[in-house]
Amino acid sequence: MSGILDVSGLTVRFDTPAGTVHAVNDVSYSLADGETLGVVGESGSGKSVHVLAMLGLIARPPGRIAGGSVTFGGRDLLTLSEAELRDVRGGQIGFVFQDPMTSLNPVLTVGRQIAEPVIRHRGLSPRQAWQRAAELLDLVGIADPERRLRQYPHQFSGGMRQRVMIAIAVACNPKLLIADEPTTALDVTVQAQILGLVRDLKARMGMSVIWITHDMGVVAGLADTVQVMYGGRIVERGPVRAIFKDPRNAYTWGLLRALPDHGQRVQRRLHQIEGQPPDLYAPPKGDPFAPRNPFATPRCFEQIPPLVPAAGAVPGHLVAAWYDLPRLLAQRGDAR
Ligand SMILES: Nc1ncnc2c1ncn2[C@@H]1O[C@H](COP(=O)(O)OP(=O)(O)OP(=O)(O)O)[C@@H](O)[C@H]1O
Ligand SMILES: [Mg+2]
Repeated sequence: MSGILDVSGLTVRFDTPAGTVHAVNDVSYSLADGETLGVVGESGSGKSVHVLAMLGLIARPPGRIAGGSVTFGGRDLLTLSEAELRDVRGGQIGFVFQDPMTSLNPVLTVGRQIAEPVIRHRGLSPRQAWQRAAELLDLVGIADPERRLRQYPHQFSGGMRQRVMIAIAVACNPKLLIADEPTTALDVTVQAQILGLVRDLKARMGMSVIWITHDMGVVAGLADTVQVMYGGRIVERGPVRAIFKDPRNAYTWGLLRALPDHGQRVQRRLHQIEGQPPDLYAPPKGDPFAPRNPFATPRCFEQIPPLVPAAGAVPGHLVAAWYDLPRLLAQRGDAR
């Protein structure tokens, strides 16, 4: 399938004094027009690094793209110059991250911060851009936009600042919005409002979305497709319903296990699975989840399983596993 974004074999390393971190390993997937992808996985699984790498936001050194391509708009983002990347970022790809690098500047008015990318990427005059900024604040549900534009970030609540960040991210009508856990710090009600806002914006603007989160409730409410990462690899990927109802990788199954009925509007952190994450300085030669996997077979310790269509599953449901989880679960009498 060819989509708006085609990631192929993306591999990212960090060369540190303690050794080389195998942060992202051979990640491949396509994102369709208008598709919302939810990326989940425990801390350190490579969720953030894989999108930062796409956007050219990995510090090099210590970071290094060790392989792969990221095709967007007919070009490989990994080969673009910094100037070309700046054009893509905030123009064709909007992004909202939690880290300070991409958060609001405390000494500039909110209006300036929204107007600036519109001037830069869309060539609007300052007056037109200010007008557009007012429209955007209105679009993200902030009342009295004309007055609000002249205020500074500290005059906004956390939830409103996040709305402003989203306004900036979508200011240039990007084809793709990438969000890396932007709602984690917000309370559950505000979080639900932000998600509602994103669904609404998506419907109006028709963009594709990559949403990184620890929260399966968020995934259930927002995503079309779920991608589960472990040890810098995609271990399972598929339509959201299929992943919730018929997980094929033991790691996904473990994440979902502790969840009560999915789809409820409560914040739910991923289930903590016993054991340690893989050592990314010296990745195991087999399936990185094998040591923690109660279903692991000898082969799991020897060879990395490829990501392939899951047997008897719906189209687009891919899994990397040497074992047949539904059969093993049935044997245990532990249906899910
Ligand atoms: N600058 C860096 N130098 C060395 N290692 C790094 C650097 N940045 C990230 N890593 C490593 O890359 C791996 C993947 O990190 P990443 O931030 O993508 O995880 P994540 O899945 O986003 O986790 P979280 O859920 O905590 O945000 C981790 O082992 C991390 O320690
Ligand atoms: Mg992260």
